[in-house]
Amino acid sequence: MREEISRYQRKLKLSTNLMDIYPAINAQSHEEFLLELLKKLCEDREEKRRIRNLNNAGFQVLKSLEGYDFSQIRFPESLLLHNLESLEFLEKKENLILYGAVGTGKTHLSVALGVQAINQGKKAVFYRVHNLINQLETGDVKEVNKVHKKIKQADLLILDEWGYLPLHQEGARLLFDIISSCYETKSVIITTNIEFGKWKGFLFDEKLTAAIVDRLVHHSHILIFTGKSYRMTNSLMK
Ligand SMILES: Nc1ncnc2c1ncn2[C@@H]1O[C@H](COP(=O)(O)OP(=O)(O)OP(=O)(O)O)[C@@H](O)[C@H]1O
Ligand SMILES: [Mg+2]
Repeated sequence: MREEISRYQRKLKLSTNLMDIYPAINAQSHEEFLLELLKKLCEDREEKRRIRNLNNAGFQVLKSLEGYDFSQIRFPESLLLHNLESLEFLEKKENLILYGAVGTGKTHLSVALGVQAINQGKKAVFYRVHNLINQLETGDVKEVNKVHKKIKQADLLILDEWGYLPLHQEGARLLFDIISSCYETKSVIITTNIEFGKWKGFLFDEKLTAAIVDRLVHHSHILIFTGKSYRMTNSLMK
């Protein structure tokens, strides 16, 4: 009988975990059994999706909000800490600009928010700006389409190390294209240590810079990281 069940499971493309799920169900009626089974299959599918999203997000290291020290971050009036943690900005398709010196926890916070979003059933993708532009510049149509599709399907795009390396004119155009496609359709988080006034320095073109700033800053919250480098502090303690 188990073999036959397993055969139908494959045919119907039900979870391979079905074989473990159904014997563990304790039910008093057919309805109760069926309900419990469907519920468990649903949960199983969502959990697999969550793990897949986590693996595909592009995070280099996973980080969490737990134990994260917010004391050195200056919040704008438009955003409270608990609204940040509950990802309210995501529902409103608002952007976050995490600005501050090196080692102050910008990447950590962006990743932790991305992980939180995925844990809540959303999709997040993470790129270091330079890697993203390099991927888009490969000329490999299949690869480029894959990147565009990935970003399109995401609820949250995290662009790390914004402005850390200068771009070519074509790179800046590609970045504009991405920002423009995200405008009011999803949230973008950028981490940077470059103030707006100096963005032209790595985006090359004045008009393009203005257009990018305009789209990013409209519906956005700017968090200012005022602390000292965690990397420095940690290595000094050792
Ligand atoms: N507020 C914080 N609470 C806990 N850990 C932190 C905090 N800020 C930073 N860290 C840790 O310190 C290290 C450096 O942080 P992170 O990489 O996020 O800095 P960054 O602001 O992105 O720096 P950079 O501008 O150089 O990229 C990481 O290991 C991170 O986990
Ligand atoms: Mg960083």
